[in-house]
Amino acid sequence: MKGLQGKTVLVTGGGGAIGSAICRRFAEEGARLLVADRAAEAAQRVAKECKGEALVFDIANYGAAKSALAAHQIDVLINNAGWDRFQNFVDTKPDEWEQLIDINLRGPLNMHHLVLPQMLAKGRGRIVNISSDAARVGSSGESVYSACKGGILSFTKTLAREVARKNITVNVVCPGPTDTPILRSFLGEGEAGQKVYDALVRAIPMKRVGQPDDIPGLVAFLASDEAGFITGQVISVSGGLTMAG
Ligand SMILES: NC(=O)c1ccc[n+]([C@@H]2O[C@H](COP(=O)([O-])OP(=O)(O)OC[C@H]3O[C@@H](n4cnc5c(N)ncnc54)[C@H](O)[C@@H]3O)[C@@H](O)[C@H]2O)c1
Repeated sequence: MKGLQGKTVLVTGGGGAIGSAICRRFAEEGARLLVADRAAEAAQRVAKECKGEALVFDIANYGAAKSALAAHQIDVLINNAGWDRFQNFVDTKPDEWEQLIDINLRGPLNMHHLVLPQMLAKGRGRIVNISSDAARVGSSGESVYSACKGGILSFTKTLAREVARKNITVNVVCPGPTDTPILRSFLGEGEAGQKVYDALVRAIPMKRVGQPDDIPGLVAFLASDEAGFITGQVISVSGGLTMAG
């Protein structure tokens, strides 16, 4: 893909299932990887594999993120870190919302705020935010998470307008159900979990659940020169489960 060779790409949650697949894809394209994750061991493992550098910090902590990024010029920012706890909204407690909001909304805001000044100064940048189809079509048990991921869609569209003239694009990729630890914890364990999984497969037009490797192609495209005239867009990768206009 054009324009990725030699670029510095920062992937938050780079030690996770989808994040590590994204890192591997950018490494194949000849990019220099900054693998950011609060899980040190995972970040270091993926950084080693991709011949990149691990940055261990919590995206929700503005000061920690600022220190971690201080020595780096970033060309491409992929906001992929995310987390969910599955519960019907009425069963949640207000103090449980904090962690969800910190990781899924405040963290990405911090990252944009820290990286954008460099991009504005250079007159070039690419940002891809990993949201979720839960934001587009809803998902029972994921109310606060969906609110944050929906916030990312709205934020992306507004920011895309603000920075468009500086040759910075900001787009969103929404995975549908993707076979990672987050999905397995959502489905539950044992026979009951398998039943929900099988029902999901039946509902997906392409008759399979997504895999982490289904996501990086679109992310790399949106970060490349080939997507230079695409901004403020939201695209699902869901095997056709969702077909939002
Ligand atoms: N798996 C799915 O079905 C699915 C569906 C839709 C959207 N998503 C989104 O895709 C992204 C990746 O999810 P995944 O399934 O690979 O999950 P994962 O749990 O495998 O990876 C998430 C990574 O983010 C890191 N992380 C979490 N909070 C952090 C923080 N505060 N600071 C730094 N790092 C932090 C974790 O340590 C982990 O390595 C998430 O944003 C998730 O919401 C996943």
